[in-house]
Amino acid sequence: MKSIWGFLKLRTLILFTVVLSFISEVHARITSNDVYEGQQLIRSSRHLDSLLQGHAYKAFIHPHTGVIYGASVPSNMTGIELRVVRLRSGSMRVRGLGYREFSIPRGVIETPYVKRLALVYQNLSNWSSYYYDVPGYSFITPVLGLLGYNALNLSATNLPELSLRASMKPISINFSGMIVPRGAQAKCVQFHLNGSIELSDMVLPNVCYTSTQGHFAVIIESKTPSLSPSPESSPQPIHKKKDHLRAWKIAVGSVVAGVAGLGLLGLIAYVFLRYRKRSNLVNMEKQAIEGENLRIEEVGNMRAPVAAEIRTRPALENEDFQ
Ligand SMILES: *[C@@H]1O[C@H](CO)[C@@H](O)[C@H](O)[C@H]1NC(C)=O
Ligand SMILES: *[C@@H]1O[C@H](CO)[C@@H](O)[C@H](O)[C@H]1NC(C)=O
Ligand SMILES: *[C@@H]1O[C@H](CO)[C@@H](O)[C@H](O)[C@H]1NC(C)=O
Ligand SMILES: *[C@@H]1O[C@H](CO)[C@@H](O)[C@H](O)[C@H]1NC(C)=O
Ligand SMILES: *[C@@H]1O[C@H](CO)[C@@H](O)[C@H](O)[C@H]1NC(C)=O
Ligand SMILES: *[C@@H]1O[C@H](CO)[C@@H](O)[C@H](O)[C@H]1NC(C)=O
Repeated sequence: MKSIWGFLKLRTLILFTVVLSFISEVHARITSNDVYEGQQLIRSSRHLDSLLQGHAYKAFIHPHTGVIYGASVPSNMTGIELRVVRLRSGSMRVRGLGYREFSIPRGVIETPYVKRLALVYQNLSNWSSYYYDVPGYSFITPVLGLLGYNALNLSATNLPELSLRASMKPISINFSGMIVPRGAQAKCVQFHLNGSIELSDMVLPNVCYTSTQGHFAVIIESKTPSLSPSPESSPQPIHKKKDHLRAWKIAVGSVVAGVAGLGLLGLIAYVFLRYRKRSNLVNMEKQAIEGENLRIEEVGNMRAPVAAEIRTRPALENEDFQ
């Protein structure tokens, strides 16, 4: 009988351990997902750049150098504005170029050197906060992208970006339509291709500067009370949703962790109590037997007190399994 009980308890213990490790595994997944989000965002925006490069090049049918072409985007990306221009790199370096909101001055150099390059322009409009995020800030303009590629093979896809660098004057980005909510401080943000985010103050109203290619926008701190006047209000719900999701995950994670911790504590207490009672019982039994033996040895027929002591055993045992 006892060995069956022991077996059952062992099985319960193993089951409990398995459940516990499952719970902690789930909790770890939830937590690590949170940490992972930033990287995920970078990766998907790089995937988008690659897709857009392929689509932009499709606009080059019989391309004229220096002419800006509008390119179409796949239907699952409706809203993104995509343009492309092909240039001789010598011409860009000597003359510069006005390209939508970007002013590319003289002295912009690409590395590695190519004879002809293509500049891809992206206006992510309502997709901005789907692909880009600055924790604690909201966009008040769409994210605009300027990326350079080798224009040698116009049917190439998955091209690596060239590195563009302004060597004389910075490249400027004119966000002429932007509206800054009253009391808010607008800042320029640049998303580098390696995922690093660079914030800078706006020196001139509506204008941001850069010396490299990348993605650009104007942001304000999210905690500003009156955000309503912004025309680009679509990014904000996505921000809020993310925050809610994060809060929700943290809440669930904490509850799960709490329950798991409580369970573990209970298990430890249970095992400890079991062990103590069991060893008490064993001790008492031993004492009883020894006592019995002693008494039997010493005083022959003093059995009554010994029997009374033994009778308490079932009571202990019962208490144990309540
Ligand atoms: C749009 O479709 C392409 C495949 O054609 C996919 O790679 C991309 O992730 C999709 N974008 C969105 C926002 O669903
Ligand atoms: C970007 O696209 C949006 C939506 O199509 C448009 O309203 C806006 O004028 C474009 N350019 C800039 C700089 O916002
Ligand atoms: C952006 O707007 C277009 C319609 O103009 C819509 O099809 C698309 O789903 C929107 N994108 C997001 C991320 O809401
Ligand atoms: C251009 O790129 C396409 C797609 O990667 C490839 O099939 C083709 O061979 C390339 N052409 C040249 C001349 O390199
Ligand atoms: C920005 O663009 C607007 C409208 O196109 C123009 O009026 C303004 O002068 C430009 N600002 C700069 C600093 O180029
Ligand atoms: C990412 O690139 C920018 C510009 O090239 C550079 O300033 C920054 O240090 C880089 N960050 C990392 C983490 O490599």
